[in-house]
Amino acid sequence: MSKPSPSRTPARARPAPPDNPLTTKEGWRHCVEHESIPPRLLTVTERAAMSRTEQLQEEDRRREYHADLPMVNTPTIGKVITTSRLLIQLNRNQISARRGVILSGASGTGKTTALTQLGRAHELAVRKRHPRDHNRLPVVYATVPPAATPKMLAMEFARFFGLTFPTRVNVTDIVDAVCATAAHVHVDLVLVDELHNLNLATRSGAEASDQLKYFAERLPATFAYAGIDIESQGLFAGTRGRQIAGRFVVIPAAPFSHATPADHDAWRALVGTLESMLRLHHHTPGTLTALSEYLFHRTGGMIGSLSQLIRGAAVLAIEDESERITENLLKLVPIDFAAEQSEKLTAPAKPTARRRRAA
Ligand SMILES: Nc1ncnc2c1ncn2[C@@H]1O[C@H](COP(=O)(O)OP(=O)(O)OP(=O)(O)O)[C@@H](O)[C@H]1O
Ligand SMILES: [Mg+2]
Repeated sequence: MSKPSPSRTPARARPAPPDNPLTTKEGWRHCVEHESIPPRLLTVTERAAMSRTEQLQEEDRRREYHADLPMVNTPTIGKVITTSRLLIQLNRNQISARRGVILSGASGTGKTTALTQLGRAHELAVRKRHPRDHNRLPVVYATVPPAATPKMLAMEFARFFGLTFPTRVNVTDIVDAVCATAAHVHVDLVLVDELHNLNLATRSGAEASDQLKYFAERLPATFAYAGIDIESQGLFAGTRGRQIAGRFVVIPAAPFSHATPADHDAWRALVGTLESMLRLHHHTPGTLTALSEYLFHRTGGMIGSLSQLIRGAAVLAIEDESERITENLLKLVPIDFAAEQSEKLTAPAKPTARRRRAA
């Protein structure tokens, strides 16, 4: 497994302002153009020459940076980008039966991040190829709403483009408007997140799934989906499911493992990459990699929990002015329920009173 590196085009999945979520063209553009630049660490002399207000502003900037650390290019992100960009190329002249990608795995394994990094990489490449064409919107990002109906799904696509309709509009008109707009702005990659919200067991869920397939047929674009454990959600069952299975490459998004020495190395490399992004005055490089076993135990190998732990500890280290991350500080960072459960399961067994007496 190759060593993860800080993303060359660093941006997080959620930088869009709340009034412009990622699922609108304005929010998406913000995500594509946003870069988290590491601030330069000032020397002791430079800091001493600053007023208290300037020092507080400098701390604020670093706190903000650490709360939103740049992305790490993980092997999953690499695989999603290489596979999907190849498919985009292969699909370009296909009239139908275009192939796509499904990113499937547990919550917090970085699916949304991988999907958005794919979209970003593709959009930046298209912009480079057509530097003067500012009307191009090569990527659409949409999420499947809970209990989605065909109309709700079509409206999600319409909302991305800012298309509005009278309340009694029928679904065909929405789909036609979406397809006309997508053709006009040269969409060639469609990202659909939260695919697990399609409930194929209900009639409206199955119809929404058909609606999505219809979009995939009509739009001359490559589709990349992400969702929680898609294989076990029935998406590949039945005739409809077999057709999907025949056209999609499934990329698993799994937590990091600690089964082999190579797994240990990969995890330590991930921790090391995140540590290299820290901009704390007294942090000794190598402290976090030395704690990589502890970090694995706390997070269950979930990149989402690891990112939360390190970003949280960095913010605390600036707040308490210690400017370094230690195990004690990491203990203060609250972590998600799933990681806490995994921590209990992997905790080294405490000796019971009877075993202590026997010893
Ligand atoms: N490659 C990465 N580098 C740094 N942080 C990451 C990376 N991938 C994910 N994260 C962080 O992990 C958290 C969870 O990631 P993300 O939302 O992509 O997971 P998910 O699999 O989509 O989860 P869910 O299924 O709950 O939607 C986010 O806060 C994100 O910033
Ligand atoms: Mg997600």
